[in-house]
Amino acid sequence: MARRRPKQFRGTRARGLLIVLEGIDGAGTTTQGRRLVRRLRRRGWRAHFTCEPSRGPVGRYIRACLAQTPGPSSELLALLFAADRIDHYESEIAPLLEAGAVVVSDRYLLSSLAYQGVEGDARWVAQLNDRAPRADLTILVDVPAAVAARRRSGRGGHPDRYERGAFLDGVARRYRELARRRTAGAVAVVSGVGDQRAIATAIDRVIAPRLRGAPRRTAGG
Ligand SMILES: Nc1ncnc2c1ncn2[C@@H]1O[C@H](COP(=O)(O)OP(=O)(O)OP(=O)(O)O)[C@@H](O)[C@H]1O
Ligand SMILES: [Mg+2]
Repeated sequence: MARRRPKQFRGTRARGLLIVLEGIDGAGTTTQGRRLVRRLRRRGWRAHFTCEPSRGPVGRYIRACLAQTPGPSSELLALLFAADRIDHYESEIAPLLEAGAVVVSDRYLLSSLAYQGVEGDARWVAQLNDRAPRADLTILVDVPAAVAARRRSGRGGHPDRYERGAFLDGVARRYRELARRRTAGAVAVVSGVGDQRAIATAIDRVIAPRLRGAPRRTAGG
């Protein structure tokens, strides 16, 4: 399989910007990530939406694993998520950053630290992800587990391995703790409760200072 790989992704100064949206299942990260990319494009940035698990081979395997019951061990999943992240960065994110794009990723490093950290050995999970390049800004879309559960049930489909209320309540707490400790670089916390437009406005406010340094595709605004 021919996949595009940059010669070296560490040490090369990326020109673009990596913005990550994080939150428990049903927090609205996909909704807000897609909205953000549309707004950025309208305002003249070259913006790209991506997600984890990625669309690459490891990401596809992870999605299959998450749908299985009981599925693989937490250790195997932690390894797969870490491997998918490096693959995602090397094959998709880094070339876009080098071309000056704003990359919006629905989940990245903080997901491993929050989910696999709650499920297993948090220190080992942090070590596994030590080499993953840090995002320029991570935005935690913070909602109580009960709100996220209502949204998931509205969306339909079968709940996967992680979509259990008590587990996600622990993940939500872990996310807030990780944000306070800035474990994965800068994290801005935005309330995900309320209407989508208000949340989008709050996201615009936290990304504005970062966008000033990113090159625009067009001069229009
Ligand atoms: N602010 C909001 N208020 C009410 N409903 C919302 C809001 N944002 C998103 N939703 C709805 O909630 C559901 C879950 O949203 P979404 O799929 O974006 O969550 P998610 O965080 O990406 O979940 P997952 O992690 O499981 O992919 C969707 O049906 C979406 O339309
Ligand atoms: Mg989603």
